[in-house]
Amino acid sequence: MATERITPSKILRGHPVIPGDKSISHRSLIFGALSNGETEITNLLESGDVQSTARCLTQLGVEIKKNKNSYLVKGLAGYNFRQSTEILDCGNSGTTMRLLMGVLASQNIKSTLTGDSSLIKRPMKRVSDPLALMGATFDLKDGNFAPLTIRGAKLNGINYELKIASAQIKTAIILAALNAEGTTQVTGEIHSRDHTERMLAHFGVKIKSDKTKVIIKGGQKLKGNKMVVPSDPSTAAFWLAAAALIPGSEVVMENISLNPSRTGFAEVLKRMTVQIKTQVTQMEPEPMGTVQAVYGNLKGVTVKPDEVPSLIDEIPLIAVLATQAHGITIVEGAEELRVKESDRLEAVAQNLRAMGAVIEVRPDGFKIEGPQKLKGTKIESFHDHRIAMAFSIAGLVAQGETEIIDSECVGISYPDFFKTLRELTR
Ligand code: S3P
Repeated sequence: MATERITPSKILRGHPVIPGDKSISHRSLIFGALSNGETEITNLLESGDVQSTARCLTQLGVEIKKNKNSYLVKGLAGYNFRQSTEILDCGNSGTTMRLLMGVLASQNIKSTLTGDSSLIKRPMKRVSDPLALMGATFDLKDGNFAPLTIRGAKLNGINYELKIASAQIKTAIILAALNAEGTTQVTGEIHSRDHTERMLAHFGVKIKSDKTKVIIKGGQKLKGNKMVVPSDPSTAAFWLAAAALIPGSEVVMENISLNPSRTGFAEVLKRMTVQIKTQVTQMEPEPMGTVQAVYGNLKGVTVKPDEVPSLIDEIPLIAVLATQAHGITIVEGAEELRVKESDRLEAVAQNLRAMGAVIEVRPDGFKIEGPQKLKGTKIESFHDHRIAMAFSIAGLVAQGETEIIDSECVGISYPDFFKTLRELTR
């Protein structure tokens, strides 16, 4: 297990190049695999999670080739996966497992999916339930977990009301619906990230979506396309937060996804009185542009439940910011954090308390009153990349040295995180 040592930083400045968006990278590979013809992907995220998707697709018969500046996916011209002789190992990646459940539900093959010690503790019934209603058969460990087996079948479209605002569940249903008989309508909590809806249109699929529903007709074909993956706003968030925390700091980052379903963190920073400037450089198929942040004298904020999906992965960072903000910060409606790569509400509370901070943890969020002094200490990452990175940022404003235990887990989404941190604080 590797350990990284973080020391307080006087300033953070620079133009870090941010790697490709994780959600869009998974989808580019999967949609490319389902397409007629080839898909050329540039700026694909090269990280542990995306490798898990690429590895599983390869086992299912998809050819993925790396060229100098891009990846080429040879489409199977439909849902034509071959049965894998081995178990499909999704590693740490919930997105890999849940999206593959959606595509494999309509395949006339038997597939077994598993994952690492974190992924096999995360709930999967929320995905298998709607897919079973469509006609697939699942066998889940203890009725809810991986390892899980899917026996695909001819599916029928459904009307389904989503109870959890999860893009992974929504996408699994849409991917099953594409190869089902009839029309599928998803209603309820559909306001999670909408990359699937936007990208499927880019791959030639007719999909209708508005604030209340997504409608998709079965039997449609995807057409291979060129896909430029915008840079990941959840990764850029670490440097926005660091710049906001350290006096005199400034960062500028280009080609960042400005998809409105992902910009919640930047909006919260603005409410905390941080100067954030954005400039859109592209709208289709995914909005992206330049983001700049300058140090601000932070103020406490309240994050309401309807904002949570747009900043779901950035909440550990909001907790770190809250300790340095004047006044009270409250996050509500974030109970989903308890079933991420770790129980992120407990992980945040345990580590902030170890650094000497006071936090009130609630079933669906937390309350933190700032400003509070943080002291460097040993940080338990819980094998969770976002916890390791959020507490590295906390270490920049703590007194003394902060040790990030099991720091290699950052490779799940941002392998160059520590290298970039050293460059920006040099
Ligand atoms: C993701 C959706 C989010 C997010 C995860 C990636 C996706 O989860 O936390 O990191 O690519 O669809 P949910 O929307 O399922 O909560």
